[in-house]
Amino acid sequence: MEKISRNAPCWCGSGKKYKICHMALDEKIHHYELEGHIVPDRSILKTERQLEGIRASSVLNIAVLDAVEKMIGPGVTTQQIDDLVHHMTIEMGGIPAPLNYEGYPKSVCTSINEVVCHGIPSRDRVLQEGDIINVDVSTLYKGFFSDSSRMYCIGEVSEEKKRLVQVTKECMEKGIAMVKPWNFLGDMAQAVNDHAKANGYSVVVDIGGHGIGLEFHEEPFVSYVTRSGTEMLMVPGMVFTIEPMVNMGSSEIYVDDADGWTVYTEDGKPSAQWEVTVAVTEEGCEILTW
Ligand code: MF3
Ligand code: CO
Repeated sequence: MEKISRNAPCWCGSGKKYKICHMALDEKIHHYELEGHIVPDRSILKTERQLEGIRASSVLNIAVLDAVEKMIGPGVTTQQIDDLVHHMTIEMGGIPAPLNYEGYPKSVCTSINEVVCHGIPSRDRVLQEGDIINVDVSTLYKGFFSDSSRMYCIGEVSEEKKRLVQVTKECMEKGIAMVKPWNFLGDMAQAVNDHAKANGYSVVVDIGGHGIGLEFHEEPFVSYVTRSGTEMLMVPGMVFTIEPMVNMGSSEIYVDDADGWTVYTEDGKPSAQWEVTVAVTEEGCEILTW
């Protein structure tokens, strides 16, 4: 990290002198680094002004998911969900972040039953009684990104699937409970993974969460299978997603060759996912998309 003199203005843009602003925090982070831990680069720590921007983006993000909740049900096509997300986001002055992201063709991801994530909305996919679906909304608003997803049970759903949806939500909540300064991302991951395993489920290894805010996907990669005491140190100003994918069967997955996006469980059993964007604060955790 670049050295700043004690009396120079702080790098965070607060206008305060470095020595009364971020200096003590930087020294503490450096201490962990010397002990061999992975620590965040200053570039991913958000300033108060940036956090304000991400909060405003998150307001749009959750408003869209609230609207999805009202219209979703048997007989609705995933294209209708895409239309709602697209139009509502634009109407509120935002941009749906998935649209054209690395060639992604739609404004939202809709992942049903054995689809793990990145399901592409389609006119041909009509939601049916018994389906479970993840709707993943990512929003760009005035230069700031937010990301969250929820599961919806369509009509009467089997007890088995309902339990998967419920336990996956609990996994996310157990992860959130571990978010506070000077914990490690691995502490959060282990809390998620332990709860999934205790319920006989498995957590997807190859796809995870991410830092977010100024970009859609920032450092670090956020795993939900790593061990306590490992991975990046949590520091105030970090913003990232908690979005574990939990499979009823094995954790093995594959990507659809035909569309290059849709991720399926290898064994064809159902998968569930919940997602929030969180910020590490001085006191603990702020859930931005809830
Ligand atoms: N919302 C997904 C995430 O959590 C992003 C998927 S990329 C897309 O990271 F292009 F498929 F939208
Ligand atoms: Co995400």
